[in-house]
Amino acid sequence: MNKLSSKRKLKSLMYITVAGYGAFTAIGFYKGNEKFYKNYFMPVIHLLDAEKAHNLAVLACKYRLFPKSHYKDPEILKVKVFGKEFPNPIGIAAGFDKDGKAVLGLRDIGFGFVEIGSVTPEPQPGNQQPRVFRLMQDFAVINRYGFNSEGHDRVLERIKDIKGSADSNIIGVNLGKNKTSSDPIKDYVNGIKKFGLTADYLVINISSPNTPGLRDMQSKENLRKLLAALVETRNSLPVKKKPPLLLKLAPDLSHQERKDIADILKKKDCKIDGLIICNTTVDRPKSLKCAEVKNETGGLSGAPLKSMSTRMIKEMSELTGGMPIIGVGGISSGKDAYEKIKAGATLVQLYTAMVYNGPPIVSKVKKELVELLHKDGFNNISEAVGKGIH
Ligand SMILES: Cc1cc2nc3c(=O)[nH]c(=O)nc-3n(C[C@H](O)[C@H](O)[C@H](O)COP(=O)(O)O)c2cc1C
Repeated sequence: MNKLSSKRKLKSLMYITVAGYGAFTAIGFYKGNEKFYKNYFMPVIHLLDAEKAHNLAVLACKYRLFPKSHYKDPEILKVKVFGKEFPNPIGIAAGFDKDGKAVLGLRDIGFGFVEIGSVTPEPQPGNQQPRVFRLMQDFAVINRYGFNSEGHDRVLERIKDIKGSADSNIIGVNLGKNKTSSDPIKDYVNGIKKFGLTADYLVINISSPNTPGLRDMQSKENLRKLLAALVETRNSLPVKKKPPLLLKLAPDLSHQERKDIADILKKKDCKIDGLIICNTTVDRPKSLKCAEVKNETGGLSGAPLKSMSTRMIKEMSELTGGMPIIGVGGISSGKDAYEKIKAGATLVQLYTAMVYNGPPIVSKVKKELVELLHKDGFNNISEAVGKGIH
């Protein structure tokens, strides 16, 4: 009898523990609690291989499983640029939602805009797996996805549906080229024709390190030819409001190459609307701790890219005489975002910080940013753009 009752007690205790843990998880998940995600939820997700975890996160956004952020964007964070009003300056960088499946879920967690892609004209599988690696101690990622994409047609269908609904948000489309394309310029021209009537802005991505030869298009002669063709295509789109064209650059360009690009951007036939700085780096800073992963081929993102990117924003802002810039690379706090804004970025984006902190990172960055703006006496975030970094 006694043995039976202690067995029952043990069973009840087990149920209570499991139920308690379940309730703790559910409350933490739905409250969007920062510490819960960072210390409990994300470590469990990190037991999965990096690409599986990425796909799961996209699915969760697609089915809008993440709770809506409780943070209401204040007026101070509103940004007017590229002929649009952004509810806040924090966007999700390209590469998370490659095929435009997660747009509304990403808006739910607080992003002010979503950049989808890179999208290639024809569907292509990208490189062989494994092709994404976490550098846990460095808060970094190395990826060599190689533009896995469902292709223009499928992605356009999806974003047309969203843009046609009342629930729409700001969507940028990042354009890539097919790996085996014999005419890369044509790939980008087709991208502009395809998405130019639907997207809020278009990005020419010639800075991914994972498509052979792509970065060579950043060289002086190639870039001049490319931009002239793209600006002409954009200008002849049959719409009154032409979509802004942005160019995404690699952090691995030399000072001379950056100067050459700035000179080209000043030419009348190459006048685009902005820059995205920057893509991932092929550099491997000595400070990296994850010895077993750091030598994987691919582009490095996250914390080790932060200062490299901020410096490049400042340099390109000066060289172009204040062209609008979307700053990206290693942002995981309001301070990181603020540094990029003060270096010359009008908007910012993040990706890798989501891998380590989960969705609450978006509200955290916004809250901290608002505090910093108030502390420095700014009435709107745009007043802080280019005000110098310490
Ligand atoms: C897994 C992964 C895939 C990416 N894919 C793309 C891509 O397809 N196109 C692109 O322009 N940038 C891509 N990026 C680069 C990001 O958009 C961003 O420029 C870079 O990661 C720096 O930001 P972060 O440090 O906040 O991640 C990718 C980044 C990661 C981590």
